[in-house]
Order: sequence, then structure tokens, then C-alpha cells
Amino acid sequence: MSVNVLVTGGAGYIGSHACKALRVAGYNPVAYDNLSSGHEWAVKWGPLERGDILDFTRLIEVLNCYKPLAVMHFAGLIAVGESVEHPERYYRNNVIGSLSLLQAMREVGVNNVIFSSTAAVYGLPKEAPINETSLEKPINPYGETKLIVERVLRDFGVAYGLNWTALRYFNAAGADPASETGEAHDPETHLIPIIIESIQGKRDRLTVYGADYDTPDGTCIRDYIHVSDLADAHVAALNRLRRGGSSGSYNLGNGAGFSVREVINTAQTVTGKIVPVTYGARRRGDPAVLVADASRATHELSWRPKISSLDEIIRTAWAWHSRTWI
Ligand code: UFG
Repeated sequence: MSVNVLVTGGAGYIGSHACKALRVAGYNPVAYDNLSSGHEWAVKWGPLERGDILDFTRLIEVLNCYKPLAVMHFAGLIAVGESVEHPERYYRNNVIGSLSLLQAMREVGVNNVIFSSTAAVYGLPKEAPINETSLEKPINPYGETKLIVERVLRDFGVAYGLNWTALRYFNAAGADPASETGEAHDPETHLIPIIIESIQGKRDRLTVYGADYDTPDGTCIRDYIHVSDLADAHVAALNRLRRGGSSGSYNLGNGAGFSVREVINTAQTVTGKIVPVTYGARRRGDPAVLVADASRATHELSWRPKISSLDEIIRTAWAWHSRTWI
């Protein structure tokens, strides 16, 4: 019998890749998802339990049924712009939802959690690359909610002995190399899928948000990290907690920055097609440069990205978006 791990948001983009990585590592991933943005087709590596993290009774029922060794917590709202317009939704789902989950875990005696956090906890960083000692100063409710949950984890660790790892993703990108799952947000706001949809004619064009930044080509620089590498880091974090490793927060990125123009050029090379582009105003809250120093994860989690070139990342996304099923 393999060991159960509850994966909240297991029907979502990063959560479904984590389920696959858990299965490959010999675990039984139990996806817990309300399917508000996740997809039933993305749950392939273990059972799906429908439920909301705000539904305490349902959480207790599922935790009691599977008695998981750990919880990987991906469920949450992720759109920065929406979080500015509707902060209540973000504090309720991301903060109160996480508290509800942690309370249910305590009640049932599940003591290990891996939390899906974000580079948005750093806000508009002054330096690049950024390590985990950089100032945490979110500039939108989305980043605030993730940082608040990290604080809750730290305090629950001290008070109740909770073992936790918070993984701060930079720009999650790409898709499962076998195209068994991939990115399918609605609405889509992320650069690489928007580039691909523009190539495919599913949208008119890509609007580049600002070409007047203080960067070599004027467009924003980001650290794109393959979603399967993120998933592997979760398994590495779980294995470390099992070995008695200490709790903490880790940046996850490749440590290499690419500008929006460079991403467009690489996508054109990979696909052999032209990206229809227009240049627009800056998007509010976009830092000019966001690049990870992920050396803490490299050392302490013994983790290293495998699909680290932008070419390969875009290739997997292109294959996923060109699939013929669903
Ligand atoms: N961009 C465009 N046009 C688009 C979409 C994006 O020019 O249509 C640009 C953005 O301005 C940015 C870059 O492409 O410079 C990447 O944008 P994404 O929306 O793909 O990703 P973000 O860097 O905005 O967001 C990521 C995560 C968030 C996290 C944030 C932290 O997706 O969850 O980093 O700053 F909050």
C-alpha cells in the first residue's frame, strides 16, 4: 500500500503535475478540489475528492478516510489583478481557507504540509537575483495572502509542532513533457500560454505590457521555471520533512532571467511561427526584474531543475497546447 498525500488543488495546473510527481515517487496522491478552476481530466494519478478548503466538515471526512502522511496545499486563488479588485475573495479563500485546512489537519493529527507560495511575497524587489532573506513586502492582496499563510505556518510550527515547507515559485511555465496534463486557466493571464494562443489564432495578438522598463530591451525580465521541476521540488520537500528536516521557505526558479521580447523570440524559434504582437502600457504592479536565487533549495532540498532551458520549457507548452484530446 502506498502512502497517501492529500493534494488540495490537485485538479489545477501545478497541483496536477505534483500528483504525477508523487505517483512517480511511489505515493498515492488524493486530489481535493472544488473544481472551481481545476479540471476533472487533470486528476489521473489517484482519486479525486470533491470539496472546498472552506468546508471544514468535508475536510475532516476526507482526512479521516485517507489518513495522509502530509498535505500539499495548492488550492487558492492566483490572479494578481483580481486580488486587487476583490480582496475579500482572496483573504477568504487563501487565508481563511488555509486556516480551515490547518485546523482540520490538527484535529486529525496530520503534521506535515507543503505550501504553494509565490515570488509575489517580495513585491517590487530592489535586487536581482533575490534570496529568501530579501525584504518581504507584497504589493497586492494575492501576495499578502500567501505571506500571511507563511506566517501562520511558522507560528503553528512553533506552537503546535507543525512541520512545514513553503515553496515560493517564480514564473511557473511549460507542461508535462508527456502532455498528460498542462496549463488551462480561464481567463488566461500568463505570458507563454498567451503567446501560444496568439500563434494558434485563438486570440488576436499578444499585448506586451510596457517596453520602457530599465532593462536591456525595455521589457520585463522573469525567471521561468518548468512546472514539472516545481512538482519535483514538492516531493523533495516532503521527503526532507519525513527525514526530520527543519521547516522553512524556499525560492524555486532557474536563476536565469528572460525578457518578454526574448520569450517571444524563443517561442517563434521553437514553433517556427510568428507571434502577432502589439505594445501597450505597463501593467500595474509588474516589477521590472524578478529572478530567483534558489541556492537554498538546491542545497537543502537536493533539488535542481531538469528542464531548465527556455527552449525546452516552451517546447513542452507548445506540445500541450497542440494536443488533440479535450
Ligand atoms: N506579459 C505581457 N503580456 C501579457 C501577459 C504578460 O507583456 O499578455 C508580461 C508581464 O507584464 C510580465 C511577464 O509577461 O512582465 C510575465 O507575466 P505573467 O503574467 O506570465 O507572470 P507574472 O510575472 O505577472 O506573475 C508571476 C506569477 C504570479 C506571481 C507573480 C509575482 O504568475 O502568481 O509572478 O510577481 F504573483
